Amino acid sequence: MQKLSLNFPEYLKNDELKRWVTEVAELAQPKSVYFCDGSEEEYARLCNEMVASGMMKRLNPEKRPNSFLACSDPSDVARVEDRTFICTQQKQDAGPTNHWMDPTEMKEIFKKLFKGCMRGRTLYVIPFCMGPLGSRISQIGVELSDSPYVVANMKIMTRMGRKVLDVLQNGSFVHCLHSVGSPLTDDQIAGRARDHHWPCNETKYISHFPEENTIISFGSGYGGNALLGKKCFALRIASWMGKTEGWLAEHMLILGAESPEGKKTYVAAAFPSACGKTNFAMMIPPTELSRWKITTVGDDIAWIKPGEDGKFYAINPEAGYFGVATGTSLKTNPNAIATIAHDTIFTNVGLTEDGDVWWEGLTDEPPARLIDWQGHLWTPEDGKRGKPAAHPNSRFTAPAKNCPSRDDDWENPKGVPISAFIFGGRRATTVPLVTETQSWEHGVYWAATIGSETTAAAVGEVGQVRRDPFAMLPFCGYHMADYFDHWIKMAAKVKNPPKIFGVNWFRKDAQGKFMWPGFSDNVRVLSWIIGRVEGKAGAHKTAIGLTPSYRDIDWTGLPTMTEEKFAQVSRVDPKEWSKELSLQDELFDKLADRMPARMLEMKAELRKSINAL
Ligand code: GTP
Ligand code: SPV
Ligand code: MN
Repeated sequence: MQKLSLNFPEYLKNDELKRWVTEVAELAQPKSVYFCDGSEEEYARLCNEMVASGMMKRLNPEKRPNSFLACSDPSDVARVEDRTFICTQQKQDAGPTNHWMDPTEMKEIFKKLFKGCMRGRTLYVIPFCMGPLGSRISQIGVELSDSPYVVANMKIMTRMGRKVLDVLQNGSFVHCLHSVGSPLTDDQIAGRARDHHWPCNETKYISHFPEENTIISFGSGYGGNALLGKKCFALRIASWMGKTEGWLAEHMLILGAESPEGKKTYVAAAFPSACGKTNFAMMIPPTELSRWKITTVGDDIAWIKPGEDGKFYAINPEAGYFGVATGTSLKTNPNAIATIAHDTIFTNVGLTEDGDVWWEGLTDEPPARLIDWQGHLWTPEDGKRGKPAAHPNSRFTAPAKNCPSRDDDWENPKGVPISAFIFGGRRATTVPLVTETQSWEHGVYWAATIGSETTAAAVGEVGQVRRDPFAMLPFCGYHMADYFDHWIKMAAKVKNPPKIFGVNWFRKDAQGKFMWPGFSDNVRVLSWIIGRVEGKAGAHKTAIGLTPSYRDIDWTGLPTMTEEKFAQVSRVDPKEWSKELSLQDELFDKLADRMPARMLEMKAELRKSINAL
């Protein structure tokens, strides 16, 4: 076995990092260890190397400057919830909604899997900060990975490199260990065979050790499975930290809304994966409501702490967007289209003949021919036969600073004050367009019981309704009922807890068509929500909460939304809601051992008002 001589950079002052890198290198046997400095030169060099190795293609610099396309192995296209584990000492602490394994047992598995798993590859040491460097809300992690694609994405998605180690000094950090699990063969090492364009392993484990601030991920190179700062750290580990330390780590976008009177309000909104967070965070209001201005703080994750002034302050721990490409267009999200005009990594989209990218929904007319995400020639005929040019979970990775709607305070280390929380799911039936909950606890109950149709963001069947409490089902690092309890208790940490709203952009009519236009028209709902926060907008009571009457919403420029149509999209149907409550039983039964009593009371109250309809 070859012995590695490790040359630590002189600026590396962290003894634990030196020890850990040495330990991992001895086990995984990479050909070299490289400390990422986070510079532009380093990014350019790694991208060039990936182009040379065939892992990425450089897009036409005239059409898409400094941008690349990576196409994954067809077996590695989304998060793998089945292979995601929370490894707490006590099984009950992970709770019934998470997969659990004993930490010692899991580490034994990894010891075997990691033995020689980086053979022939470079082990990259990636120091990163979630949140602005120096913010009291930010946290530091170090990812060790054998994937240059991970390094390039982490450079965009986090504050990455030497500057992080300068802040960290000899302090503690979250250990994030990652391997694609595909050691090179002798032939590959000798240059007689090429490396796979997307190395990965059939065996996958995405494991979290919240009691040790440690993440270990093996076998996948894709998104949340591999960019460990994102879901693994910023949600699963951070939600545990938040519970212990009295703050919140949420699957939420953060946006600023400036009213026609010039007043700025920040809201945070949780929607499940691929259910419209990026769209909502970057929304451009329709012309008739253009005196409303929406600015973007974050599109996926919010870390929220109570401030000294009695308000919740939120930061976006990320520095970039790992957004769904499919469906993104000038019509649905012009700000995203501008953001990804340059300096972007695309994953699993189609490659056009002139070296640009295409995906379903980008234009009404597909190009006559292109190379699809699996590297095959594709024509619109293939599309008609149900073979998409881009994978439904295709993504772009782009720096947040390139977003035209970025908020002036998007990097403010203090965070931005949150005035309302919004929770939404993808529901074809039952759930009305917008509901204001009647108290913090009622809001927690609402958020805890949201259902949503599954999407392509995770491997598995798409379109099945499942309970997705707080849009956190795949991301909560501990017992979901304890998480509800934590939310209930957080109200006491602030002066006036923000109002909590429920929304559903996805209700369908009998013909299966969306009843609500959505996208830019969502600002109409948002302005009502802000009106309610300010005590200005009207509302009336329904069996499930408060809702606007037709006259309470500004309909300028949307004559198609008649009073009758609005009544349909806002309808609370007693039969549907009775069924909905029964469906909630499954979640309540599952979490029964630790379900807060308040939640049971709220459910009983709701049952009563539904029965009274
Ligand atoms: P993750 O990054 O996976 O966490 O998801 P996200 O919530 O940021 O997803 P994104 O905003 O990319 O959601 C994309 C999907 O939501 C696409 O299928 C869009 O068409 C759909 N979508 C977004 N907003 C609306 C809307 O207002 N109405 C309808 N009908 N669909 C919408
Ligand atoms: C999600 O699935 O909610 C995402 C994409 O934001 S990933 O980072 O792959 O988890
Ligand atoms: Mn997400």
